[in-house]
Amino acid sequence: GPGQCTVSMLLLLGLLLIGPPAQAEDSKCTLLGRAQLPELSKDGDMLIGGIFSFHTGQEADIQSFTTIPKPLPCKNVNFREFQFALTMIFAIEEINRNSEILPHAFLGYKIYNDCGTSNIMRAALALVNGQDQAIHSNNCTQPDTVQAIIGHSGSTPTIGFATVIGRFHIPVVSHFATCACLSNRKEFPTFFRTIPSDYYQSRALAQLVKHFGWTWVGAVSSNNDYGINGIATFMQVAQQEGVCVEYSEAFDSTGPYSVLLRIVSVIKRSTSKVIMAFMTHREIKVLVEETERQNITDIQWIGSDAWITDTSLTNSKGNKALVGAIGFVVSKAQIPGLQNYLQRLHPSHFPQSSFVREFWEIVFNCTLATGSKKYQKRPCNGSENLENVQNQFTDVSDLRFTNNVYKAVYAVAHALHNLYTYEHGYGFDSSSTLPPWKVLHYLQTVNFTLETGEEVLFDSNGDSPARYDLINLQNVDESTMQVATIGYYDASLPQGQQFIMNNTNIVWGGGSKEVPVSVCSESCPPGTRKAVQKGKPVCCYDCVPCAEGEISNATDCIKCQSEYWSNIRRDACVLKEIEFLSYGDLMGLLLALFSLIGAFFTTGVGLIFYYHRHTPIVRANNTELSFLLLFSLTLCFLCSLTFIAVGFWAVLGYIGLLSALCFVLAFLARKLPDNFNEAKFITFSMLIFCAVWITFIPAYVSSPGKFTVAVEIFAILASSSGLLFCNFIPKCYFIIFKPEKNTKKALMGKASK
Ligand SMILES: *[C@@H]1O[C@H](CO)[C@@H](O)[C@H](O)[C@H]1NC(C)=O
Ligand SMILES: *[C@@H]1O[C@H](CO)[C@@H](O)[C@H](O)[C@H]1NC(C)=O
Ligand SMILES: *[C@@H]1O[C@H](CO)[C@@H](O)[C@H](O)[C@H]1NC(C)=O
Ligand SMILES: *[C@@H]1O[C@H](CO)[C@@H](O)[C@H](O)[C@H]1NC(C)=O
Ligand SMILES: *[C@@H]1O[C@H](CO)[C@@H](O)[C@H](O)[C@H]1NC(C)=O
Ligand SMILES: *[C@@H]1O[C@H](CO)[C@@H](O)[C@H](O)[C@H]1NC(C)=O
Ligand SMILES: *[C@@H]1O[C@H](CO)[C@@H](O)[C@H](O)[C@H]1NC(C)=O
Repeated sequence: GPGQCTVSMLLLLGLLLIGPPAQAEDSKCTLLGRAQLPELSKDGDMLIGGIFSFHTGQEADIQSFTTIPKPLPCKNVNFREFQFALTMIFAIEEINRNSEILPHAFLGYKIYNDCGTSNIMRAALALVNGQDQAIHSNNCTQPDTVQAIIGHSGSTPTIGFATVIGRFHIPVVSHFATCACLSNRKEFPTFFRTIPSDYYQSRALAQLVKHFGWTWVGAVSSNNDYGINGIATFMQVAQQEGVCVEYSEAFDSTGPYSVLLRIVSVIKRSTSKVIMAFMTHREIKVLVEETERQNITDIQWIGSDAWITDTSLTNSKGNKALVGAIGFVVSKAQIPGLQNYLQRLHPSHFPQSSFVREFWEIVFNCTLATGSKKYQKRPCNGSENLENVQNQFTDVSDLRFTNNVYKAVYAVAHALHNLYTYEHGYGFDSSSTLPPWKVLHYLQTVNFTLETGEEVLFDSNGDSPARYDLINLQNVDESTMQVATIGYYDASLPQGQQFIMNNTNIVWGGGSKEVPVSVCSESCPPGTRKAVQKGKPVCCYDCVPCAEGEISNATDCIKCQSEYWSNIRRDACVLKEIEFLSYGDLMGLLLALFSLIGAFFTTGVGLIFYYHRHTPIVRANNTELSFLLLFSLTLCFLCSLTFIAVGFWAVLGYIGLLSALCFVLAFLARKLPDNFNEAKFITFSMLIFCAVWITFIPAYVSSPGKFTVAVEIFAILASSSGLLFCNFIPKCYFIIFKPEKNTKKALMGKASK
């Protein structure tokens, strides 16, 4: 059946991954490779697996390539991860005592130590395979496959094993892996988490930066899926929020020192004072130690959830540098009874586990091995207990990710409970096998409330609802840091209300009381607008003054309404001042002079015409109409003098009348014999007239105060002069200087040419 198929597939995988087979014997089940044993385990009707990094690394070794490599010894005990594992056991024991959840079944567990992620695949496959001791007796039994796997803390290791585990439909529930990439249901069909995706954290961080007015920030991340994905979303949202990122760098705590030095020199040269550090506690530790060594102290750190609450940073040398750091982290919770449970831990509870002995020996600086001189430690005297020990393992004052482990175990238990309630009725039959894909289905639809009041459910991607505390690292005294909650963020609230600060005192970077400033350019003062510098980000700009008639009080210049004008500082619109053009000032005087000259010329032309009124040119020009036009033009020139006041519209009407008259003249002239060429002159003067008035209207609208009047007068003078010079001056020229042409004969001759 399909079950056997899965088992054989797994054995094949095990063969490939676990190592070469031992000598095969026909017709017997034989061990294909040495399965890894769980660090902590307990039998049960159903098993929940767990993978945690009790150590953060392995001893280096040189392979000979002639023998099967021996497992390398692990080093650097991680107390926080051990607390996660014991919380998982605590939750399972609590569920086993609870008659409401899975009343007829007993939950067991298998918890693996992946030794700083290097053994993660072996651990994951061992959990799926389930074949451990049973095989030793050459007896093929039903493999005790786990129903679900809790873990891992890191995003990258989780990506690694969740892809493989997903093929076997076994649910993976992580308490800490936040990479947004894990929300991809195609690649990770069985992945769930009791922590929100970084998609939300990155958005929240970008809004936080915006909230404090830091529009110019640096970004540093760890060089893994967590850091790279997290910082990418942060930068994308920051850009939408109008925040600019000065530089973005990634590095690895295990990478070369030169990379770290280069990044610190970038930080040193930069002008931004705020650094978004999307990294794990390992990277922030080395980064901060290096910046502190180089005397860079005025940095405001913004942390991602992986390090912002890690109290192991408190004890490092870099602790002072991180005072004032702020960041988001999942909400704090209480788990009643957990502290007692952790304090009662004793190596005798887990006799199989070498790790628990190692832990004990480290905490109490004594040795449990009798007669061993290896460590030269005193032997443990048996009266050690954890009750009076303060370390990361026993500390339950700030339960955040630990609570996620607790929630994950309960989620799996509720899913199993629902599965049995709906599929089998209450009579649980422990001999029936559970297809893993059914567990998956029930885990997807789980929705319950913990006794602490927290709701646990997953969305269609297996993610938890996003609600964060905003926390601030504050220094209590020289060597102690405290985590203070200063606000929160809830992604389920409407846009704009998601981020709430409560008025708690915030300690800023370097222990300062003032909000740090981190901008590329100061905001522009009223009366100016931003002008982006070429080739620089939008946050870097110059401030240029607004044009006349425009004001600004924030970022852009806006035009005042028509009857308003900008003041000198360009920060407010004021009513346009009514200014009068007087004879006193030069412009008034000049304009008056020009109108007088214009009137004088017109009168002169009138006199010339009158004196030569019997000559053919004047006669041909329709004498009465010419005199009327000249009289009108004189009035027109003179009337502009009255302007230097009121009645603008009256004059405009008058000029309109004149032009209509001209038009009529031109119309009449059309009927005269065409040898008088009147129509040509009149048309030309009309063109000038139109051009003047078309240019006048925009100039009139945009000129302030007395210039309006000046423009009006200029327009009148120019159009009147146009009429005068085009119509009459050529005729005067002929009358006075070429009298020989002023004969009927000449006129007719010209016409007949
Ligand atoms: C094999 O296992 C079954 C069930 O666990 C047991 O009843 C049987 O005695 C075992 N056989 C041998 C040869 O150990
Ligand atoms: C940091 O400052 C100390 C004392 O002010 C000085 O001795 C040291 O040389 C400085 N280090 C660097 C890298 O500038
Ligand atoms: C552990 O105990 C030994 C002596 O038994 C002592 O020399 C050593 O300093 C102790 N280490 C710590 C970390 O206390
Ligand atoms: C056992 O050792 C601890 C110190 O590690 C000491 O405080 C305690 O008194 C010792 N108990 C006995 C019975 O010697
Ligand atoms: C979860 O259950 C609560 C009541 O127990 C209900 O109000 C809520 O809508 C449920 N949520 C979902 C997503 O089904
Ligand atoms: C700040 O807000 C958090 C979250 O709402 C709340 O738990 C805390 O009590 C508040 N603190 C103060 C001092 O108001
Ligand atoms: C800018 O001016 C508008 C309208 O005059 C006003 O509503 C707004 O509050 C002003 N903004 C600032 C920053 O002064």
